[in-house]
Amino acid sequence: MAKILRRERLVPNIHLLEVEAPEVARKCQPGQFVIVMPDEKGERIPLTIADWDESRGSVTSVVMIVGTSTQKLSLLKAGDEIPVYVGPLGRPSEIKNFGTVLCAGGCFGIAAIYPMARALKRSGNRVITLLDVKANYLLYWEDRLKNVSDEIHISARDSAFDCRDYIPKKVQALLEKKKKLDRVIAIGCTYLMYSCAEATRPSGVKTIVSLNPIMVDGTGMCGACRLTDGGKTKFACVDGPDFDGHTVDWQELFSRRKAYFEDEIKSLCEWEKDRFA
Ligand SMILES: Cc1cc2nc3c(=O)[nH]c(=O)nc-3n(C[C@H](O)[C@H](O)[C@H](O)COP(=O)(O)OP(=O)(O)OC[C@H]3O[C@@H](n4cnc5c(N)ncnc54)[C@H](O)[C@@H]3O)c2cc1C
Ligand code: FES
Repeated sequence: MAKILRRERLVPNIHLLEVEAPEVARKCQPGQFVIVMPDEKGERIPLTIADWDESRGSVTSVVMIVGTSTQKLSLLKAGDEIPVYVGPLGRPSEIKNFGTVLCAGGCFGIAAIYPMARALKRSGNRVITLLDVKANYLLYWEDRLKNVSDEIHISARDSAFDCRDYIPKKVQALLEKKKKLDRVIAIGCTYLMYSCAEATRPSGVKTIVSLNPIMVDGTGMCGACRLTDGGKTKFACVDGPDFDGHTVDWQELFSRRKAYFEDEIKSLCEWEKDRFA
């Protein structure tokens, strides 16, 4: 059991969830995640640790509503308890002084990239942050990311910020301007990470992506998160979630993520029907 300390809507489809989890807060590192079960009847889903406060004993994640479990999480209130909250899981991200690191985040990845950008900045890197949102009203945590970045660019399709381009194009533009990048880290939807990796492939700039296959146990036992990296079978929960975007088999990842599409739609319809019955 874990107690919800705060649940706050950041933008229409994205909520912050702060949970009392002192053991996780004491041990976690950037890039790690927790497995959460929103209620007794629910499924286990992974959420990246976006921030933590050891003195308060709390861990924060940011949840984008896409289906039944994330809907359920978005309805929790401070004081509610969730039956399962396990972590920290996964390998921590590699943090050292690489030189100039570009951190690219979209949707929930804006929050997920924050602890990495902060740790990279503390390790002496020059941090360039790129945030991607479909529209300006979907932007959150801009100030937090500004505080840990040397340079920040925000891209929104409605152009209220400095560019309209989908961020992989912006990554390409920066590389074409001969910006020296030593590493790119991208977190967000699978397509954003894939596109960022494709944008850097010709230049060979190492591009780390935090992969989001379906997970169940999060400990390497069930095989749900299987993927292929560099021709070898890997499990995202124990070998990742960070992988080299230039060696991942993206087509396999896209297709495995769609495996339960019809069941996911059915589950959401049934849950909505029960809720409003
Ligand atoms: C290591 C790891 C860390 C993660 N961290 C976070 C996090 O910090 N915050 C967060 O919100 N999510 C995160 N995710 C993704 C999250 O676990 C899933 O979105 C969640 O399991 C969906 O459950 P659901 O029941 O709400 O939706 P489902 O019913 O499982 O999915 C609903 C539909 O939405 C689609 N979908 C799922 N995810 C996305 C997406 N990101 N963008 C667009 N469509 C999508 C699915 O393909 C499916 O068709 C992470 C995943 C992994 C593997
Ligand atoms: S989630 Fe079960 S093996 Fe990774």
